Amino acid sequence: MTADELKSLYLGFFQQKGHALISGSSLIPQNDPTVLFTTAGMHALVPYLLGEHHPAGTRLCNVQKCIRTGDIDSVGDPGHLTFFEMLGNWSLGDYFKEEAIQWSFEFLTNKSYLALDPAVLHITVFQGDEFSSPDRESFEIWRKLGIPEKRIFFLPRADNWWGPAGQTGPCGPDTEMFVDTGRAACGAACRPGCNCGKFFEIWNDVFMQYNKLPDGSYVPLSQHNVDTGMGVERTAAMLQGKSSVYDTELFAPIITTLAKLSGKAFGESAEVTRAFRVIADHLRSAVFILGDEQWVAPSNLGQGYVLRRLIRRAVRHAKKIGLGPGFSKAVAESVVATYTKNYPELSARGAHILRELAAEEEKFEKTLAQGLAELDKALEQLKQHGQTALTGRVAFRLYDTFGFPVEFTEEICREHGLTVDQEGFAKAFARHQEVSRQGADKVFKGGLADNSAATTRLHTATHLLHKSLQAVLGPHVQQKGSNITAERLRFDFTHPAKLTPEELLRVEALVNDQIQKALPITMQVMTLEEAKAAGATALFATRYGEQVKVFSVGDFSKEVCGGPHVANTAELGHFKILKEEASSAGIRRIRAVLMEKPA
Ligand code: ALA
Repeated sequence: MTADELKSLYLGFFQQKGHALISGSSLIPQNDPTVLFTTAGMHALVPYLLGEHHPAGTRLCNVQKCIRTGDIDSVGDPGHLTFFEMLGNWSLGDYFKEEAIQWSFEFLTNKSYLALDPAVLHITVFQGDEFSSPDRESFEIWRKLGIPEKRIFFLPRADNWWGPAGQTGPCGPDTEMFVDTGRAACGAACRPGCNCGKFFEIWNDVFMQYNKLPDGSYVPLSQHNVDTGMGVERTAAMLQGKSSVYDTELFAPIITTLAKLSGKAFGESAEVTRAFRVIADHLRSAVFILGDEQWVAPSNLGQGYVLRRLIRRAVRHAKKIGLGPGFSKAVAESVVATYTKNYPELSARGAHILRELAAEEEKFEKTLAQGLAELDKALEQLKQHGQTALTGRVAFRLYDTFGFPVEFTEEICREHGLTVDQEGFAKAFARHQEVSRQGADKVFKGGLADNSAATTRLHTATHLLHKSLQAVLGPHVQQKGSNITAERLRFDFTHPAKLTPEELLRVEALVNDQIQKALPITMQVMTLEEAKAAGATALFATRYGEQVKVFSVGDFSKEVCGGPHVANTAELGHFKILKEEASSAGIRRIRAVLMEKPA
C-alpha cells in the first residue's frame, strides 16, 4: 500500500462515518504563538476544541503537514523524520471514547481497510495521577472489542497524555495503538512505548476534555473532543514491510537523485546511509517550510533559525558523501516533483524555494571549510590539554563569524566525545547582544524610541502601512520588525520581491486615503482569542486567556498592540515612503515619514 493509498483509505473511511474532509493548515501555527511549527493537526483547531463553532461541522478529518525538530539529532536512523504527514479525525464535542476507539479498531483490522490481525495489537491507556483519574473507560472499550487485558497497559502521563500544543490549551488522556513487529523483546521490562523496535506505534486517540491554564491548573472543557494522529510515512513503511521510512516510494526519487549526484549507493556503508537520510529528511523539511504560505526565510530567529539549521546540517552531510555546490537544487526538485500533486503550493513557490536554498547553501559553503578548520584546531588543542568542553567563546565565534548554529558545533564535538560549554556560549551571546543594543541600531521597547507626539503619529501610520501593504500585495505580508523614532518609521515585512514603483504608489495612496478620511482610533481590551475572532492582527507571543489591547483605525485596521496612538488619523498629515529595500532574504524594509499636508 502506497502512502497515497493509505491516505485515501483513511479519509474515505472517516468521510463514510460523517466526517467532513478539511484541508491541512500552514506549517506555521496561526492560533498558537507558543510554538514555532505545526507539530500536529490540532494546532489549527485549537479555537474549535475550546468551543468555537467550526464551519465544516463537528466531525472532521484531514492530512496535516507537520514539523517536529525535537529529535533532529536522531535523524539518520531508520525512523526519525523532522517533516511528516499526519492523518487525523476529530470530534468537536460530538462523539467521544466509545466511537473513536471502535472506529480505530475497525480501520486497523477490517479486511477492507488495513486488515491487521487483532492479535498483533497492543494498547496503552492513561494510568491516572493527581490531576486526572485512570482511563478505565477506554480500557473497558478495548476489552469489549476483544483485546485481552494482558495486552492493555496502563501507563503514566509521560506516555499517555497529549498536549497542550503550547504551554496552555486543550489536552487530555490518550490511548495509543501498537503493532507487535514480532521482533525479540529487549528485556523483561519491554512494553509498548519502549524504543527498542519491538512495538510500532501506529495511532493515537486523544480525548481532549481539559484546558490547561497559564497557572498550570486543568479545568474541564465545556465539550468533549477527540483528536487522533497516524503518521503517514511510518505507517506506510510498516504496511510495506520496510524497515525504514527512507525505503518507501516517498523517498525513492530523492535517494535516486543523491545516488546519481554522489556516485555512491544508498546502503553501501553506515556512514553513506546516514548522510543520505539526513540530507533527504532535512531538505524535504526545508522545501516544505520554504514552500509554506507564510514565506519563512533562513535567519537567526525563530522558524528562520530552524530552517537555517536544517539546510546547514544538510550541507555538512553532503560534504561527507562528496556532493558539490548546488546539490540542494537537484534534491529540492525531486521533493517538489514527489509532493506537488498533493501540495501544489510547492510548485507555485518553486522559484522562491530554489532561490532561498541556493542562497543559504552558498552562504554557508563560503565559511564552512574555514569554520571547520578553526574548529578542528580548537578540538586538537582541547585534546592535547586533556579538556573535554569547547569554550563558549569559541562556540560563539563559530556562530558569529562562520555561521555555525551552536547545535551543529555541539554535534561535531559529540562526534569527538567532547561537549560545548553551553553556559559560556549563552554568556558570550548575551554580551554580544548588549553590545549591539548599545550600538547605532537600538532595540526599542515595542519598536518605539520614545512616547513623543511625533513618534506616536508615526506609530499609527505604521498600522496603516501594514494594512495597506496587505491590501496591495496580499495577505502573506507579515510584520517582521518595526523601529520608530520621532523622525521616521522603519517597517520590515515578508514579501518575496522588490516592490514595483506602481505598488509603492498604491500603498502610499491607500495610507493617505485613510488619513484624509479622518478615521478615529479606538482601543478595546479583550482576550487574545477574542481579538483574533474579531479579525485583529496579533504578532506577539501571548498566552491563552491573557488580556490584550486591540487598536482599531476606523474599520480599516485592527491590531493587537501596546500603543500609544493618536486619536484620529487626521493628525497624521501626509505619508511619504522614502525607500524600499531588501532587509534579508524574503524580507523587505520600508522607511517612511509623515510631512505637513501638501498645500
Ligand atoms: N495530537 C495527537 C498526536 O499528534 C493525536 O499524536
